[in-house]
Amino acid sequence: MASTNSSPLSFPLFLTSMFLFLQPLVSSFSIKEATVQDLQFAFQKNQLTSRQLVEFYIREVRRLNPLLRAVVEVNPDALSQADEADRERKAKALGGLHGIPVLLKDNIATKDKMNTTAGSLALLRSIVPRDAGVVSKLRKAGAIILGKASLSEWAHFRGYSTPSGWCARTGQGKNPYNISEDPCGSSSGSAIAAAANLAAATLGTETDGSILCPSSNNAVVGIKPTVGLTSRAGVIPISPRQDTVGPMCRTVADAVYVLDAIAGLDYNDNATIEASKYIPRGGYKQFLKIDGLKGKRLGLFRNEFFNIGEGSVYVEAFEHHFSTLRQRGAVLVENVNVSKYLSVYSTSTDYETLAMTAEFKLAINSYLKELVVSPVRSLKDLIAFNNKFSKLEKTKEYGQEYFLDAEATNGIGKKEKKAILKLAKMSRDGIEKLMTENKLDALLSPFSSASSILATGQHPGIIVPAGYNREGVPFGLCFGGLKGSEPTLIEIAYAFEQATKIRRPPSFKH
Ligand SMILES: *[C@@H]1O[C@H](CO)[C@@H](O)[C@H](O)[C@H]1NC(C)=O
Ligand SMILES: *[C@@H]1O[C@H](CO)[C@@H](O)[C@H](O)[C@H]1NC(C)=O
Ligand SMILES: *[C@@H]1O[C@H](CO)[C@@H](O)[C@H](O)[C@H]1NC(C)=O
Ligand SMILES: *[C@@H]1O[C@H](CO)[C@@H](O)[C@H](O)[C@H]1NC(C)=O
Repeated sequence: MASTNSSPLSFPLFLTSMFLFLQPLVSSFSIKEATVQDLQFAFQKNQLTSRQLVEFYIREVRRLNPLLRAVVEVNPDALSQADEADRERKAKALGGLHGIPVLLKDNIATKDKMNTTAGSLALLRSIVPRDAGVVSKLRKAGAIILGKASLSEWAHFRGYSTPSGWCARTGQGKNPYNISEDPCGSSSGSAIAAAANLAAATLGTETDGSILCPSSNNAVVGIKPTVGLTSRAGVIPISPRQDTVGPMCRTVADAVYVLDAIAGLDYNDNATIEASKYIPRGGYKQFLKIDGLKGKRLGLFRNEFFNIGEGSVYVEAFEHHFSTLRQRGAVLVENVNVSKYLSVYSTSTDYETLAMTAEFKLAINSYLKELVVSPVRSLKDLIAFNNKFSKLEKTKEYGQEYFLDAEATNGIGKKEKKAILKLAKMSRDGIEKLMTENKLDALLSPFSSASSILATGQHPGIIVPAGYNREGVPFGLCFGGLKGSEPTLIEIAYAFEQATKIRRPPSFKH
C-alpha cells in the first residue's frame, strides 16, 4: 500500500522506526516527491500500482486545486488507463514512462473525453481531429494521461495586461510557495502541479519564456527543447517559428525521461524532420552524469545577465553556485567582451513581436479550421466571443490587445519577412557567435532572463531550482545552448542539480 498524504518525515522519529520494525518496508513508500525511477522501482517491487498512483493524484487535485487552480480537467479515463498499465506490467516489466501519470498543458490536444481549450471558454466542446504529436508519443510509451493543466490563457498572447497564470476556466493560478506571489506563465498550471505533487510529470509549451519562467518561480526543472525536437502538431499555437513543447518536472532525470518519450519525428510537424537529426542514439538518459560539469565551459556574464541587485538574496545564491560549478570542474568564462555579441539584440523595432503577431493569426486560424467541431473558427470569432462573454473572460479588465493587433495583420508580408530575417541574423551574430567563438558549452542566466535570445534563435534551455527569495518564492538558474545541444545541457543541469539539491516541496504556509 502506498502512503498517501504525509511524507515519512512528518512522523516523529521514534514512531517511524517502530513502524519500520513492525511492518515490512512496503508500507513506507511515499508518492510525494517520488521520481519516475522511484515509482518504477515501487511498481517492480509490488509496493505500488498505477491505480494507487492515479487515485493519489486525483485526491490531491481535489484537496489542493480549489486553492492552486492548476488543473482544468482530470481525465475521466485516467483510472482505466492505470488499470491497463497495471495489467500490462504483470505480463512484462516495462519501465520508462509506462504507467506514469502525466498532466498536459491545456493547449495540447487530446482526442478523448477531455476538452482542449488553451484555458478559454471559447473552445469548450470543440473536437480535435487527433491527439497532439507529443500525446501520441506519450501513449505509445504507456504513460497515463492524467488531465489538463491551467495556463495563462492563450499562452499569454491575448492582452498586454492579462496577469500571468490567469485562465478563464479556473481563475488565477497560484504560486504554491507563496499564494500572494506570481506563479508566472504561460505554463503556470504545469509548473504548479509538478511543484505541489499533483502529477508525476507535466508538459508545458514555450514561445518565449513560458516553460522557463513558471519553472523558475515554482522550483521545478523545465526543459525548453530546440524548436522541432518535439512535435507541435495539435498544440494550440502562437508562432510555429518559436513554439516548442517540453517537460516540467521535479528533477532533471524525470524531465529527461519525459523528453526521451516525446522527442522525435512526427509527419504532422515537418520541423521534426530537420530537428530529429539532433536526437542521439540511445536517447537522453545517458547524459545524466554525476560528473557532467567536468571540463564544461560556461559563459558567466555578470553585467549583462546577473545585474540583479547588489547584496540581494539572488546574488548571494548565484555566487555560491558559481563556486560550486567551479568545484565540480566547470570553467567559468568571464573575460569576454560580450557587448560585441549582445548589442545586436538592441534594436529600435521589436522584430519578435512584429513577426509573432502575424504568425499567430495564420497559425491559430489554421488550428481552428482543422477542428472537427468548434464554436469558433477564426481569430475573428475568438475576439467576438471575448466581447460577447466579456464578464466570464474578463475582457474589460485584462484586454485582448494582442488578439486585435494580430487580427489587423495580413499574412507574412514584406515587413514580417524582414523581421524574420533580422531575428535569424541577430541569432547568428549574437548567441551563435558568442558561443562558438568562445567555445562555450552553455550560457548561464538567472530566471528566464535569456528566454528571448534562446526563443528567437530556436535554441534550447534548461532551468534548475537555485534558491528562494525573502518571500519564499523559488528562482532558477538557466543553462542555455545552441540548437541540438540538449545532451550537453542535460549533463550540466544534472550535475548542478545533484551538487546543490535546492528543490524542496512547498509547505503551504502562507
Ligand atoms: C468538457 O467541457 C464540457 C463543457 O463544459 C464539460 O461538460 C465536460 O465535463 C468537460 N470534460 C471534462 C472531462 O471535464
Ligand atoms: C510536410 O512537407 C510535405 C512536403 O513538402 C508537404 O507535402 C506536407 O503538406 C507537409 N506537412 C505539413 C503537416 O505541413
Ligand atoms: C567591446 O566591443 C565593443 C563593440 O564591438 C567595442 O566598442 C568596445 O570598445 C569593446 N570593449 C573593449 C574593452 O574591448
Ligand atoms: C508572501 O509574499 C508576500 C508579499 O507578496 C509577503 O508579504 C509575505 O511575507 C510572503 N510570505 C512568506 C511566507 O514569505
